Amino acid sequence: MIDTEILTEIQKMDLCSPPPEQEPARQYYFIRKLQSWMEEQRAEKGRMLTCHVKTFGCQMNARDSEKIIGILQTIGYQETDCEEADLVLYNTCTVRENANLKVYGRLGQLKRYKKKHPEMLTLLCGCMMQEPEVIEKIKTSYRNVDIIFGTHNIFKLAELMAMKLLDRPDSKKMIIDIWENTTEIVEELPNARKYSFKGGVNIMFGCNNFCSYCIVPYVRGRERSREPEDIIAEIRGMVSDGVVEIMLLGQNVNSYGKTLEHPISFAELLCRVEQIEGLKRIRFMTSHPKDLSDDLIEVMSKSTKICKHLHLPLQSGSSRLLGIMNRHYTKEQYLDLVRRIRQKNPDIALTTDIIVGFPGETEEDFADTMDVVEQVGYDSAFTFIYSKRTGTPAAAMEDQISEDVVKERFDRLLKRVQELAAERAGKYVGETVEVLVEERNGQDASLVTGRTSQNYLVHFPGDETLIGSVVSVKLVESKGFYYIGECVEG
Ligand code: 5AD
Ligand code: SF4
Repeated sequence: MIDTEILTEIQKMDLCSPPPEQEPARQYYFIRKLQSWMEEQRAEKGRMLTCHVKTFGCQMNARDSEKIIGILQTIGYQETDCEEADLVLYNTCTVRENANLKVYGRLGQLKRYKKKHPEMLTLLCGCMMQEPEVIEKIKTSYRNVDIIFGTHNIFKLAELMAMKLLDRPDSKKMIIDIWENTTEIVEELPNARKYSFKGGVNIMFGCNNFCSYCIVPYVRGRERSREPEDIIAEIRGMVSDGVVEIMLLGQNVNSYGKTLEHPISFAELLCRVEQIEGLKRIRFMTSHPKDLSDDLIEVMSKSTKICKHLHLPLQSGSSRLLGIMNRHYTKEQYLDLVRRIRQKNPDIALTTDIIVGFPGETEEDFADTMDVVEQVGYDSAFTFIYSKRTGTPAAAMEDQISEDVVKERFDRLLKRVQELAAERAGKYVGETVEVLVEERNGQDASLVTGRTSQNYLVHFPGDETLIGSVVSVKLVESKGFYYIGECVEG
């Protein structure tokens, strides 16, 4: 649902004057222009125009896609799952090489669709588009793409579309608008949320950490935080629309607020969010261990709304490698942090990210990673094979590890991570816990599926009317990755 106040502002735009300089009014102007164009298209074609947005990668991208879909729907497009739509947009990821390969695979397919439907509008955006060599490749091998933009100027979508569709409809020239960086955060744009009861809220953009393997700081730019007032206002608006759970999003939420004119800490922000009436659950993602403060541990332990789940990327258990990765903590400091978190929050679920095969990783380094996994006992872990990203310091390091050594270590790690997670999984059987019901079960229509505060999946008998509510469920059986439960409320 698009905010009605924004829709009213858009309707008020005077199209006889030149476009305003200020944002977001400038974008409202182009959206209004495209709405008129859309009316003509509908009359001509005798149907609604459709759009298909495909998202690759993380929750940041998923959130960006909601903003993109919001703009497209306001223009008048109807969203569809079908890839042969009037407008197709790929919001790309580049964190690992295989993310890029997936996009190139889809682009091949898109080329065929476009041959069949030459009037189809094709757009690319997201992290992969911030890489100059990707743009070169698209310019030479995928010349039928119409518009490319990056991570910093998503808010300009309508303006770029107006340039293509209204100013030069017959030109085959690709429109490419990539910014290297920005400090600008444009608020108050249309925005279509995927779920009515939960949603992500950006609290900051970019990353300043420059972990030596990671491309994110190069493609998402320097860290910049949103004003706490804007964040609170957004959440209040969501809650009044029926949202009960929010996920605060940032590459490193623990450094939130440092760049603001009046700095505030993440722990302070959480305390303010906690006070929002009607909001039931708060999650956040991702925490960097080096910035996780005792204040945050304290706030989490006292809160009645912050979920009992912390995603705390380890990356490696070897202090030597952590140094080369530029992570600013040692194995011992990480373990001590986990101890302090658990001391104050005994029932917290911990999850992590681990990279296997970073350049120069020895068997001894890997043994340290296995040791941390053993000592922490994660509830789940995302394990990744190191992927060389052009432009990052690690890509230039000698001693890249051979594929078979990495594969063998990766399999060993994955097996152990799964065994340990399975051991922990039965832990809550017999307990009655709060579950936010998210959907009807895909396999068995008599069941619904939801998540506990610890982010465990639970399937239990119930119907659609429960979706979006928090109910008490007794966990009767563990199935490894999920629980079977029964509702204990009338
Ligand atoms: N290779 C493999 N994994 C990576 N990640 C980031 N960069 C790379 C890379 N070059 C992983 C990290 C991060 C997660 C989002 O992706 O574990 O926490
Ligand atoms: Fe990448 Fe490190 Fe920033 Fe995370 S904290 S986005 S791993 S550079």
